[in-house]
Amino acid sequence: MGMDRRDFLKLIGIGGAVIVVKTGNLAGAADKEMAGDTLTFLQLSDTHWGFNDPKINPDFAGTLKKGIAQINSMKSQPDFIIFTGDVTHTTDDPKERRRRMGEAREIIGGLRVKDIKMMPGEHDAGLDNGEAFQEYFGKTHYTFQHKGVHFIVVDNASDPNSSIGDTQLQWLSAELGKLDKDSRIVVFAHRPLFDLYPQWDWATSDGAKAIDILMPYKNVVVFYGHIHQEHHHMTGHIEHHAARGMLFPLPAPGSVPKRVQLPWDSAHPYKGVGYRSATPKTNEYGYVLTEFPIIKT
Ligand SMILES: [Fe+2]
Repeated sequence: MGMDRRDFLKLIGIGGAVIVVKTGNLAGAADKEMAGDTLTFLQLSDTHWGFNDPKINPDFAGTLKKGIAQINSMKSQPDFIIFTGDVTHTTDDPKERRRRMGEAREIIGGLRVKDIKMMPGEHDAGLDNGEAFQEYFGKTHYTFQHKGVHFIVVDNASDPNSSIGDTQLQWLSAELGKLDKDSRIVVFAHRPLFDLYPQWDWATSDGAKAIDILMPYKNVVVFYGHIHQEHHHMTGHIEHHAARGMLFPLPAPGSVPKRVQLPWDSAHPYKGVGYRSATPKTNEYGYVLTEFPIIKT
């Protein structure tokens, strides 16, 4: 899917006649119109700072910085930027984990946008229940509001069993209980909440419980990372959109026997790597998504 290229028709009644106005491609507006009343956020995911295999990405130290330079050069800056986990690449060494987090935080601090939201992936948090992540980036689950949209960050990465956990599910229920059933709700998670491909850990063990809790709400969209590729799925009326990673792509779910990083393609550098913007559709539920590549400089 990627960009939503559907045109939409707007009916305007003037002097008894109905004039049909074709408004054109909504997606094209996303990078031109980020200011004003229109909400736009960027989703970056899976930067894996500390990963250093040149066969997978010879620019392992420069890709995130290139992305940040590209974002900083956008004429209109987004309202905020969310990093949906795996900011750092996993390491058994707690000191090295903290070093990577410190470096990543410094690089991310170079963004012109200062409203940055962070959440952990299992590479950041799975080996110490999110301890180091919290030292560097704060809470692992929280809510915030922006321009009438309610955002809920769900941590399904700090628990080594890929679960959200009952305590957090109760918290999710309580937070949703404060909202009207037709509120605009966006959920950010690292892993998919539905069973995309559990054999590859592309699932959340109690994700179905979270979806049940969300189901009574009419306008819910979930953005997640973890799978290093675009993916779009519906559970009932709830949309789920995975973003590409910022360092390397992974194969399509179940397409190969093993989940291994796709090797660097020198004919197409940074193929499958990038980030996205999202902005609410004007007259309907859902979001206009625009996918941005990393451009070789
Ligand atoms: Fe992950």
